[in-house]
Amino acid sequence: MLNIVIFGPPGSGKGTQSENLIKTYNLEHISTGDLLRKEISTNTQLGALAKGHMDKGELVPDDVIIGMIDSFLDKMKNANGVIFDGFPRTVAQAEALQELLKTYKTDVNVTLNLNVPDEELITRLIERGKTSGRSDDNLETIKTRLQTYNNQTKPVLDFYKKQGVAVDIKGVGTIDAIFADIKKAVDAVK
Ligand code: AP5
Ligand code: MG
Repeated sequence: MLNIVIFGPPGSGKGTQSENLIKTYNLEHISTGDLLRKEISTNTQLGALAKGHMDKGELVPDDVIIGMIDSFLDKMKNANGVIFDGFPRTVAQAEALQELLKTYKTDVNVTLNLNVPDEELITRLIERGKTSGRSDDNLETIKTRLQTYNNQTKPVLDFYKKQGVAVDIKGVGTIDAIFADIKKAVDAVK
């Protein structure tokens, strides 16, 4: 299996570049943010719990997220590989993912770390907010999301650096130019 973590702050292009990865490598995609938004739009109990956290730009509790990944992986036994988008976001999630993948005798092959300056992230998300309908695309929540990323999610990068699987990608430029760098990094491990 080819397992890719697409990593980076809010608005860095994880979802955008995941679409290119899916097309090029025929992989399954899990975006925990998309799954949570689906739970909200279908008014589930999990959705109600998640909304309170997401609207504030805070993380949804680890046990909820790890449970979602566990049931997703259970359906992925015959997949070519998986793109993890927006997950793991805490070191506890990264450790749990490693344990889960062990049961499938596989691991994360590469973590693509998209680098984008904060001002550009804010501009992108404010712009997206005009059409996205996402309740977290407003300046106040965007600022908290960036803080949450710096405090809780950035340490995940050190976890993958220690394992020698993290690759820095310049996340500014055209979508195609960024994907060309991503493709080089993925081809090097596949
Ligand atoms: P999530 O949905 O994962 O949001 P996020 O990480 O804040 O990131 P975004 O989806 O906003 O951005 P992206 O990196 O995908 O960028 P995109 O491609 O859209 O999470 C939302 C919330 O859910 C979290 O805050 C948390 O509460 C909860 N949650 C989710 N996962 C969780 C987990 N594992 N644990 C706990 N809680 C969790 O691009 C952004 C914009 O920029 C787009 O408009 C795009 O068109 C544009 N763009 C993309 N590339 C470029 C480019 N090269 N140049 C110019 N514009 C570009
Ligand atoms: Mg996204």
